[in-house]
Amino acid sequence: MRHAAGQPGAFPEIERTLIAREAIAARVHEMAAKLCNDLRDEMARTGPGRIVIVPIMSGAMILASDLLREMPLKLSLGLVAVSSYPGTSLASKGAVIQSELPTDLAGTHVVVVDDILDSGQTLELVRRIIAEQRPASLRACVLLRKRVSRTATTPDERLAEYIGFDIPDEFVVGYGLDYNGYYRNYPEIATLKREAL
Ligand code: IMP
Ligand code: MG
Repeated sequence: MRHAAGQPGAFPEIERTLIAREAIAARVHEMAAKLCNDLRDEMARTGPGRIVIVPIMSGAMILASDLLREMPLKLSLGLVAVSSYPGTSLASKGAVIQSELPTDLAGTHVVVVDDILDSGQTLELVRRIIAEQRPASLRACVLLRKRVSRTATTPDERLAEYIGFDIPDEFVVGYGLDYNGYYRNYPEIATLKREAL
């Protein structure tokens, strides 16, 4: 059954779909399988430890919920909230941590999850703060990476080990990504009409 959001009229500001929901689901499935394999290998190498998934709120909530349900491993969640695109901004205003980070990550296997790697400031900040706690391993998974960043700094390839899709340098919404707080529930990755921005 088609999601109501895919029906004409439900979201008149949506311009066009970049990534359809079936493609997202297939890629999330692949990333979850790869993550599970890599975590098992990691623990075979460096020893068992707690697995902690750290979704960056609010953009990662949809990806994290889909990804986690495809990871048949014993794991726990530790949320962190970061804002970088306050309100109607279309470019990063610099990443700022808005919540407490989990404080018990020493010796754990951490997987940071975010919606998109753009300038890289968000993941750089979160990874740096988590690394200070000396986890046994640290990796990051994002659904999207903007191939050409709108900011002067290009995202460092090493900031995310798992990348779902490369997209062009366009502002996108849906599947967790918002514009001014809206469209996170749109089930596909889509662009907005110019007049809506
Ligand atoms: P970065 O810090 O520049 O890498 O940006 C990452 C954060 O900016 C993501 O977690 C998103 O919340 C937000 N962001 C970046 N690009 C977009 C976009 O095209 N649409 C919506 N949010 C975006
Ligand atoms: Mg975000």
